[in-house]
Amino acid sequence: MPQRKIITEPDTILRKKSLTLEKVDNELRELMDDMLETMYAAPGIGLAGVQVGILKRLIVIDVSGDKEKKNPLFLVNPEIISKSNNTSIHEEGCLSLPGYFAEIERPAECQVKYIDYNGKKKEMRANGLLATCIQHEVDHLNGILFIDYLSKLKRDMIIKKLVKNKKELNKIVL
Ligand code: NI
Repeated sequence: MPQRKIITEPDTILRKKSLTLEKVDNELRELMDDMLETMYAAPGIGLAGVQVGILKRLIVIDVSGDKEKKNPLFLVNPEIISKSNNTSIHEEGCLSLPGYFAEIERPAECQVKYIDYNGKKKEMRANGLLATCIQHEVDHLNGILFIDYLSKLKRDMIIKKLVKNKKELNKIVL
């Protein structure tokens, strides 16, 4: 199971809308396995297909703590069908925005409909960190990043720094 390269800002693909998947087959399961491995290695708690360059509506999540048993979730074509009015604030980061974190307010609970690893239709009610993570990842499928919830000034500042970091990284030739 090879790890995939994680795409970071700035990259126009991160702003594209991902497409609905037709079916869950072995090829897709292989991709989901790769994504999970990539996410664990990063390390992160959620990863969307677009972040490894695949513009398909697909996310992997594991919000279990370091000492808990692993609890991977694979969500194909996830669709948030309802959100609570009450909100919660979590400090969010993103594997595509390395080194940046911000407190983001989102609905505290959500109901999500999806297709699982085995191709079965599922529905789940999420709260706490899982609810935040699902919303963050579904945002990725719609070309939205958590920095979009910040002021333009703050967002521009982060992007400017990421552009600079990327340029510096590109200068290293081996
Ligand atoms: Ni992210």
